[in-house]
Amino acid sequence: MSAQLKPGVVYRPMQEEDLDAVMAIEPTIYSHPWSRGNFADSLKSGYSCWVVELDGELIGYGALMMVLDEAHLLNISIASAWQGRGFGRELLAHFIDVARRHGGQMMFLEVRPSNTSAIGLYESMGFNEFSVRKGYYPAENGREDAILMGLAL
Ligand SMILES: CC(C)(COP(=O)(O)OP(=O)(O)OC[C@H]1O[C@@H](n2cnc3c(N)ncnc32)[C@H](O)[C@@H]1OP(=O)(O)O)[C@@H](O)C(=O)NCCC(=O)NCCS
Repeated sequence: MSAQLKPGVVYRPMQEEDLDAVMAIEPTIYSHPWSRGNFADSLKSGYSCWVVELDGELIGYGALMMVLDEAHLLNISIASAWQGRGFGRELLAHFIDVARRHGGQMMFLEVRPSNTSAIGLYESMGFNEFSVRKGYYPAENGREDAILMGLAL
């Protein structure tokens, strides 16, 4: 488990019982949120899904898929009330740690070019832009590209 920098913060594997709390956050922070089924499928598929609790309250979560020595961060989320206080950085460090412990050599993620705060976080953690996936995301007016970012672990 990653170093716990913040008092009162616990990381633990996500369980089916967490999905009510996860779905209370997800639609409030994404224009095109994951469905409950997306999370349930991730759990069934054995992806590494984690929640962040602060003093017992679920304030963040994410999902990591490992394919051989490649880690793919599928979701990383902090509830809006708790954003901008370092929890996302700590959660990303946790997922990097998890990926390394699973033998990951590279970690990848997609991000919308418009998500400048997330890009700022990823760059400051050492991620580099690898390529652009054209029209990857649904958007208000058609589709939006994704930036594929990667980190050597
Ligand atoms: C992206 C997200 C997980 C980051 O978590 P967070 O707790 O808000 O981020 P942190 O407080 O740890 O900030 C980490 C870094 O992000 C960057 N950042 C945060 N807010 C920013 C802003 N408004 N503008 C630019 N950079 C910003 C900074 O690099 C910051 O580091 P610093 O505070 O040391 O300068 C969170 O904001 C979130 O859940 N957003 C909505 C969902 C989402 O977009 N997920 C990512 C999909 S790819």
